[in-house]
Amino acid sequence: MKSVQDLGDLKGKRVLIRCDFNVPLDGETITDDGRIRAALPTLTQLKDAGAKVIVLAHLGRPKGAPEPKYSVAPAAKRLGELIGAEVKLASDTAGPGAEATVAGLADGEIALLENVRFEPGETSKVDAEREALAQKWAALADVFVSDGFGVVHRKQASVYDVAKLLPHAAGTLVKKEVDVFSKVLSDPDRPFVVVLGGAKVADKLAVIENLLKLADTLVIGGGMAYTFLAAKGYQVGASLLDEASIETCKGYLATAEAEGKQILLPVDVRIASGMDFAARTVDGPVEVVAADAIPADKMGLDIGPETEKLFADAIKSAKTVVWNGPMGVFEIAELAKGTAAVAQALTEVDGLSVVGGGDSAAAVRELGHDDSAFGHISTGGGASLEYLEGKELPGIAVLEEGN
Ligand code: 3PG
Ligand code: MG
Repeated sequence: MKSVQDLGDLKGKRVLIRCDFNVPLDGETITDDGRIRAALPTLTQLKDAGAKVIVLAHLGRPKGAPEPKYSVAPAAKRLGELIGAEVKLASDTAGPGAEATVAGLADGEIALLENVRFEPGETSKVDAEREALAQKWAALADVFVSDGFGVVHRKQASVYDVAKLLPHAAGTLVKKEVDVFSKVLSDPDRPFVVVLGGAKVADKLAVIENLLKLADTLVIGGGMAYTFLAAKGYQVGASLLDEASIETCKGYLATAEAEGKQILLPVDVRIASGMDFAARTVDGPVEVVAADAIPADKMGLDIGPETEKLFADAIKSAKTVVWNGPMGVFEIAELAKGTAAVAQALTEVDGLSVVGGGDSAAAVRELGHDDSAFGHISTGGGASLEYLEGKELPGIAVLEEGN
């Protein structure tokens, strides 16, 4: 994979760069600008080199047509504040607005084109449709830099096809993410502990399958843990349960046992009658019970204090830790204790601690931790999971090809 330096002198060159500015918004206010901050090193590097910088990014999942609520305008504004220079926002994605904005760029200036997903070609499953859109962007630029790690698992026009049309390189963010994940998967310092949480066990089955081969210990919390508890034969009451995955989970428990690996599950949980996520409230009191004693009408919503200690001890004794997914409904203060305990333990690791993107990255910042307390906070949610599944990521594979 080439890096930006390999592209030669970029002064006066038009550099097209894919970033992941898919940030959480409350109206037009960005509630976590981590992904924009993560793009600053490469953008600053290009700006300082005197390039004309043309940024491609998506926000949300618009369906191939402009929709004001998905405009990347808030990202342009925030990027401008962070980089200390105006960021010009094009009025469209690949039309006359984009052309005019690019034509008006001086050396060292930055433009952001509108949401790439306003164009139906971006996410099209038809190669020729994606290629046609990629051609329009390629016509605006001299070289392409891929720095949106959060989207490298998508075979989309701005991630994959455009790289085939221009000399290309990986930006520093993509390089760093790939370095960290390839180190973790190919040569982890041991013990190697993986902490998984989040609601849906089905989303994590492929990760568990791959990491069961590589890790020494899998720590499982969050909504997905109840399917594992059910696989052990426990009653999980009204907790989240994925019946269709119970047999698969039984298989993982058996594999772990046979191969001397450890799967740590909650030994106690925090339960309540229910919750109102939108209102951020819990129904009735939150109680702690043993993991095999969840009453039929109660749901587990966080790991319990014994489990916090069990998980924290496993994490702190590791030399490599990867964490993806919260331990409970951390958005509700009373149910954030387990996630907070895991985050705290990660800050105490004497080795490499990696926080997977998405909810876990947002959680550690919301809990008040500084990014520097962790070895690496990934900007990729789905991308980091697919990496951990051992899959080939189209947006990385294409960078490893010629051009
Ligand atoms: C993300 O938020 O995980 C990335 O920006 C990718 O977005 P997507 O899941 O909508 O492709
Ligand atoms: Mg996503």
